[in-house]
Amino acid sequence: MADLVVSTVAGVPVEPGEKRFLSVNPAHLDETVVQVALADADTFVAACQAARRAQREWAQVPAPVRGRVVASIGRLVEANFDRLAALVTREVGKTATEARGEVQEIVDTCDFFLGEGRRLYGQTVPSEMPEKQLFTFRVPVGVAAVITAGNFPVAVPSWYIIPALLCGNAVVWKPAEYAAGCANAFAELIRHAGVPAGVLDVVFADGETTYAGLAAAMESGLVDKIGFTGSTAVGERVGALAGRHLQTPCLELGGKNPMVVTEDADLELAVEGALFAGFGTAGQRCTSLGTVIVHESVHDEFVARLDAAVSGAVIGDPADSRVLYGPMMNDRFAASFEEYLGWIGEQHRVVGSTGRGRISAANPRDGFVGDPSTGLYYHPAVVVGVGPKDRLFDNETFGPIIGVTSYRSLSEAIELADRPGYGLSAAIYTTDPAKAFTFRGGTRAGMVSVNNSTSGAEAHLPFGGNGRSGNGSRQSGIWVLDQFTRWQSMNWDYSGRLQRAQMDTAVIEPDLGYRLS
Ligand code: UN1
Repeated sequence: MADLVVSTVAGVPVEPGEKRFLSVNPAHLDETVVQVALADADTFVAACQAARRAQREWAQVPAPVRGRVVASIGRLVEANFDRLAALVTREVGKTATEARGEVQEIVDTCDFFLGEGRRLYGQTVPSEMPEKQLFTFRVPVGVAAVITAGNFPVAVPSWYIIPALLCGNAVVWKPAEYAAGCANAFAELIRHAGVPAGVLDVVFADGETTYAGLAAAMESGLVDKIGFTGSTAVGERVGALAGRHLQTPCLELGGKNPMVVTEDADLELAVEGALFAGFGTAGQRCTSLGTVIVHESVHDEFVARLDAAVSGAVIGDPADSRVLYGPMMNDRFAASFEEYLGWIGEQHRVVGSTGRGRISAANPRDGFVGDPSTGLYYHPAVVVGVGPKDRLFDNETFGPIIGVTSYRSLSEAIELADRPGYGLSAAIYTTDPAKAFTFRGGTRAGMVSVNNSTSGAEAHLPFGGNGRSGNGSRQSGIWVLDQFTRWQSMNWDYSGRLQRAQMDTAVIEPDLGYRLS
């Protein structure tokens, strides 16, 4: 029987109740990776209470010492690199190469923030008064509730957890149930690096229970910051809840990420970029490619080359190094992908595969590696002829599907790129710098790639989106510090008298009537 993973409160395992979720290997559906004991809403609240208690002491630990703990997390992740990456492949079906990239992203994040422990700068600011000094300090927000998806089961959580801990916060983490094994392993590594009990608890719960627990914890004043990565629909609910408590959450939501291919683009490079952006991770990244917007003069040539590239891509067992993508992460994502396939209409032409839908012996995929019947494998789809008002054009379609449309002028391309109302990642393939800069200035996307895939952001640039992709919050690098700290100012008057700001300030009178002769 597979291991049972349970939630913790103050670092102590919670007695498992009746409710169970089986996290299965999506490439081998008969293999249970872990059994997950699902917690109730009270457990979520109890973890927030424990976090509230533990946070004060953690905030007293000098930031450079917390930085050393972050360094130790990075070292432990490196020492367990292969096992953690293998678990990512087993539990969510990422290819071995991508799973290793995922684990590397935690190490990169730790590398960045261990040094921040020795910076976490405040400022000294001149006062308008003599014998008075002004200062700013970064203070931890308190308790952060972090809710994450399973498509990046350890890397994206690390973007929240590592800086939150470094800044002196306590964290209650609710990972995706279907990635519970990965979450449990990562939490163990964090604990063994010396993060005290209660400073990080993990609560495994379903979505509605989590919402109920979060709402109750907010009502009791136990949560100071929410970090949420997931769908736009759930993000709207989480954002509304946070807003009712006058908080600004960190929301990292969906994307309908465009890729513009101009008339002067290197088409070979653009095809390579579209292949990885659209079909890497089976299209299950928030940064995955949504629609390619191709200049009409190169449209047919581009489609022919992309068709050849996608048709030739290897799909199958994610453990095999030749494979571009493996299975859908979980049956929920497979079911929603089937629904998106139903959006393909008469007006569209589908290329990139000989079949459509789930890959099976009866619906085979050329060059498939392994046995398709054991997992949630789907044909890739390149849907040519999508356009505004098509559901396929307007909405995120998490899975191995992309649309292609054409444009005449760059301003039309920018308009098409932003039209679905998301704003996470946008790419342009061009050899003309003027087009690249015009596109950057024109799109609302939070992240712009030039001659590169929409996915694959580096771990120390600001990550986040606008519109339906998020509320403008940014993760990663120095920018995330503003999520997990608040600025506190201090003024100190050592003159020994009351000096009233704006009123007792010295004035040097200019002669503003003076003119040069
Ligand atoms: C996500 O899918 O939620 O930029 C994050 C990328 C990855 C992160 C994706 N580094 O594609």
